[in-house]
Amino acid sequence: MSARVGVLISGRGSNMEALINACADPAFPARIVTVVSNRPDAAGLDKARQADIPAHVFDHKAFPGREAFEAALTGHLEAQGVDLVCLAGFMRLLTPGFVEHWRDRLVNIHPSLLPSFKGLDTHERALAAGVRFHGCSVHLVRADMDAGPLLVQAALAVHPDDTPDTLGRRVLALEHQAYPLALRLLAEGRVRVEGERAVITGGTVPEMAVLNPAGLSGE
Ligand code: GAR
Repeated sequence: MSARVGVLISGRGSNMEALINACADPAFPARIVTVVSNRPDAAGLDKARQADIPAHVFDHKAFPGREAFEAALTGHLEAQGVDLVCLAGFMRLLTPGFVEHWRDRLVNIHPSLLPSFKGLDTHERALAAGVRFHGCSVHLVRADMDAGPLLVQAALAVHPDDTPDTLGRRVLALEHQAYPLALRLLAEGRVRVEGERAVITGGTVPEMAVLNPAGLSGE
């Protein structure tokens, strides 16, 4: 039986689309039963509807406070029989109560190699820090922002002439691979949480190590 997934968005929804595309494969162990945006103007809403997925707006501004907003969200997700909740560019902080309620069933994607560069403007900050590698992380959500057991990370080499835009575009392409993989692992029941680590069963780990810059003497 496939896992029932709710996807929360705030904007463009390209990660949501990557999940929709993955779920279109009948062999994929999950299906998206609802998409919710906290912003009425999110471009991702139309993309979901075009894929015949019910898309709803829960405008946080229409609620008296965070708890009321989140109670409505949980009520909706539970009414849809959701097993797993995927945050896909959902730009609202969630209260510890919501996070606890969905503990180990709430997933986020973040555009950096966590625990580096939590928060916003990750590509600008990675370039300013001069890191040689950057990427994205998919993790189970904990009450602290951009923290929680890591499920999947994907890394790429930073180019000397990268701008936040060029780097961000390459990272986004990685995000679209990493998120479906993480959802698959969860939906197949291959994730065991031990303390603050997620242990994945039945996976393989690449042996490859890389140097950046490459091709210089000493290799
Ligand atoms: C993605 O890059 C995602 O990693 C990031 O927002 C973008 C949403 O794009 N999320 C965060 O920064 C959360 N801390 P999308 O709407 O096209 O998926």
